[in-house]
Amino acid sequence: MRKIIIDCDPGIDDALAIMLAVNSPELKIAAITTVSGNVPSDMGAVNAKKVLKQLNRLDIPVYIGEDAPLREEYIDARDTHGMDGLGESFLPEVSSGCEKQSAVDFLTEILEKEKISIIALGPMTNLAKVFSKKPHLIRNVEELVSMGGNFRSHGNCSPVAEYNYWCDPDAAAIVYDLFEKEGNIIHMIGLDVTREIVLTPNRLEYMCRLDKENGEFIRKITGFYMDFHWEQEGIIGCVINDPLAVAYFIDRSMCSGFDSFTAVATDGICRGQTVVDSMDFWKKEPNSRILTETDPEKFFRFFMERVLKKEDGSKWNDEELKLLHEL
Ligand code: BDR
Ligand code: CA
Repeated sequence: MRKIIIDCDPGIDDALAIMLAVNSPELKIAAITTVSGNVPSDMGAVNAKKVLKQLNRLDIPVYIGEDAPLREEYIDARDTHGMDGLGESFLPEVSSGCEKQSAVDFLTEILEKEKISIIALGPMTNLAKVFSKKPHLIRNVEELVSMGGNFRSHGNCSPVAEYNYWCDPDAAAIVYDLFEKEGNIIHMIGLDVTREIVLTPNRLEYMCRLDKENGEFIRKITGFYMDFHWEQEGIIGCVINDPLAVAYFIDRSMCSGFDSFTAVATDGICRGQTVVDSMDFWKKEPNSRILTETDPEKFFRFFMERVLKKEDGSKWNDEELKLLHEL
């Protein structure tokens, strides 16, 4: 079992990532920390609780993180994720509250005590605050997997930038820079790979057939996201970015790529762009592993096997999942 913290901004695809992580026996989730991104950090924490309630895992503590990017004006993504951040599902709020300690203090405290991995699914504001004050704590980050950035693929917020890094480009730039200085690397699950992970209406329907309860929960939170993808990108279905970072953390064969030095642009028309030195012009030590290839069918099998439950509690077999190959 590997101990992790999920730093996120739930967010529809963050919710799916939490579902996957909670249902993965390889992971021990020490905490969920939230950051302002798709929705403000306090709303993200309420949403994390709603998802944990669905999973009967309200024992996992939730810490509220930074409420605005380091320097830029905060721009949320409620056009994509709905006014409540969970596809306007307006699920009932959970009465048990969040932890009193701030996410930044919690992250600092735990990294001072032990080595732990972080799966970052939102802007890097919390992480930048922790590491710019205490850079040596980067040595206690067992692994950092970050959903964000893009290499060959175009952006989703500007021609060149992906939302998490675009939202707080200074934070992303600081974290990449400090990881280089401290000799650690960031596993970058960017749009090159996540764009391939499309939850189609057929896949969703299949999930509902296999497990009505969890399938319908996913349907409830993804409908709005599907409409957004059709209107904005002409896609039938929705790109679910964040759960791929969890799947990759558990199973390295989920994505492949290369090691490189990467910097993040902070200003102007390139704000939030990941500048990946794949040709080694700068002769710098790699601070990132850039994932460029993935296998969507493998991912969906992995996701469904874990998140969907069989009534008798047994595991899904090939026969039961065979339709997946055709969807
Ligand atoms: C990322 O931005 C958010 O909208 C998603 O939750 C994901 O983390 C994709 O660009
Ligand atoms: Ca996210």
